[in-house]
Amino acid sequence: MNEVLKAENLQVFYVLETLGEKRIAKAVHGVNLQIPGNEVYGIAGESGCGKTTLLKVLFANIEPPLRAFEGRVYYCVNDKYIDAFSLSAREKRELRWTYISYIPQGSMSAFNPVKKLKVTFLDFLESHVRGKDREELLSLTNHHLKTLGLSPRILDAYPHQLSGGMRQRVAIALSTLLKPRIILADEPTTALDVVAQRAVLQLMQDVQKELQNTIVLVTHDMGIHANIATRMAIMYAGKIMEEGSTEDIFNHPLHPYTQYLIHSLPKIGDKTPRESAPGSPPSLVEPPPGCLFHPRCPQAFPLCSQEVPELVRVNIDHKVACFLRGNNRASCS
Ligand SMILES: Nc1ncnc2c1ncn2[C@@H]1O[C@H](COP(=O)(O)OP(=O)(O)OP(=O)(O)O)[C@@H](O)[C@H]1O
Ligand SMILES: [Mg+2]
Repeated sequence: MNEVLKAENLQVFYVLETLGEKRIAKAVHGVNLQIPGNEVYGIAGESGCGKTTLLKVLFANIEPPLRAFEGRVYYCVNDKYIDAFSLSAREKRELRWTYISYIPQGSMSAFNPVKKLKVTFLDFLESHVRGKDREELLSLTNHHLKTLGLSPRILDAYPHQLSGGMRQRVAIALSTLLKPRIILADEPTTALDVVAQRAVLQLMQDVQKELQNTIVLVTHDMGIHANIATRMAIMYAGKIMEEGSTEDIFNHPLHPYTQYLIHSLPKIGDKTPRESAPGSPPSLVEPPPGCLFHPRCPQAFPLCSQEVPELVRVNIDHKVACFLRGNNRASCS
C-alpha cells in the first residue's frame, strides 16, 4: 500500500452560535488527499485558508466548535486502512505519537511553560512506554536528542529559556521520540530567522531520512515547499485547488491561484514587480457560488461562478480544480 494517510470528502466546519444565530465557517470543504509514505508532503495556502484545521482533522482531533459533517480519514496501520474517526479515545491515544504525531503551530504550545524540558520529556515517555524506569527513559531521551544533533543539556532548560529556533527543534525531537510513521507539522519555521529556519528544515529532513516516514508540512512559505516537499497541495478557502509533485507545481502551475503564489516569489536579479492575487480571500461563512477563486481570477468566465470545478487528474502526477484545465466541461463542449 502506497498511501499512509488518506482523506475522503472531508466536510469539516466551525459551527458558531452567537445570540442564538448559527453561523457555519466551511474551513475544510470537500478535501480529498492521498499522502504517500516516506516523503515530505507540503500543504500551502494563504492565511485563514484552513491549513491548521485540516491538520487537526488529519490528526482526528475534532472538537467543538469544529464538527465533521462528512468524510473520513484513514491511516494505514499494519498494511490495513483504519478509519481514524471511528477510533475510541484509548485507540487514538495508542496511535498518537507512535503512529502519528502533531507539531502545533507555535512551538511554545508544545510545552508546559512551568516545567523543565526534562520533566516534559519524561512525563511524555512515561505515559507511552511501559516497563522502563525513569533512568532508562532519560537515557532513551538523551540518545534521541544526540541522534538529532541536539545537546541533552537543553533538558535542564525551561521552554522560555530557549531561542524560538531551538524550541522548535526540541518540539520536533519530542514529537519523534516514538518514531511515528507520520508527522503533521504546522508552520514549523514561521517567525524564525533564516538561519534558524535552515536548522529546523535540515532537522526535519534528517528525521525523515532516519525514520523513512512521512512529514506533512504546512506552511504558507512556497520557498520552503520548493526546498523540501516532494509533493504538495495548494489550498484555497478550505479546498484543494491543485495537487501534484512539487516539480510539476513549480514548473507548470495550472491553477490561476497557484500561478499567483509562484509568481509572487522573489527571484534574484529579476526587478520586475511581483504579482499577487487581486482582492482578498472569500468569507468561509458565505463563500461565493461556483469556483471559490472566481471573484479574484482574471481568467474567470461565466461557468466559474455557476459550478464548482472538481479536482481532477491532468497527468499522472498532477491534479487541478479549474474549468480552464483538464477536467473542464467548457473545453469539452
Ligand atoms: N476555533 C475557531 N472557531 C471559529 N473559527 C475558527 C476557529 N479556528 C479557525 N477558525 C476559522 O477557520 C478558518 C481556517 O482557519 P485555520 O486556522 O485553519 O487557517 P490557516 O490556513 O491555518 O491560517 P494561518 O496561515 O493564519 O495559520 C479561518 O477563517 C479561521 O478564522
Ligand atoms: Mg494555521
